[in-house]
Amino acid sequence: MSDEELLDAARTVREMAYCPYSDFRVGAAIIDESGNVHVGCNVENAAYPQGSCAEAGAISAMVAAGGQRIVTIAVAGGGSGKTQACTPCGGCRQHIHEFSDDETRIIFKDDDNEWHRYSMDDLLPSSFHL
Ligand code: THU
Repeated sequence: MSDEELLDAARTVREMAYCPYSDFRVGAAIIDESGNVHVGCNVENAAYPQGSCAEAGAISAMVAAGGQRIVTIAVAGGGSGKTQACTPCGGCRQHIHEFSDDETRIIFKDDDNEWHRYSMDDLLPSSFHL
């Protein structure tokens, strides 16, 4: 699957986001080590801290399906009706890190439709791990 197709999967699931409080829709799509694709969207809650991010949803779907490694994760986000550059939040970087290796790529497009492709170390240097 191409980066463009993976981003399309993130954009498609983004439409399913439940975000009545922020009106900021996010979708994430993962290719795992077996080539399987897993998607997730943000799901907010009236008790704000209980909401979950799109990346966390996609990771949960991956793990539930037996995936253990993120090869590539694409993220698409923005207010309803538009897309903006959406780089994973700090907490999501740690979530992604748990299932990453040196080859893992985190990708998204900016407002000018330009690709940004990062390694885990780019986004979370000196990261915590046990
Ligand atoms: N959000 C994500 O889903 N992923 C991120 O990496 C950044 C933030 C969600 C959380 C919340 O529902 C909304 O975007 C606004 O912060």
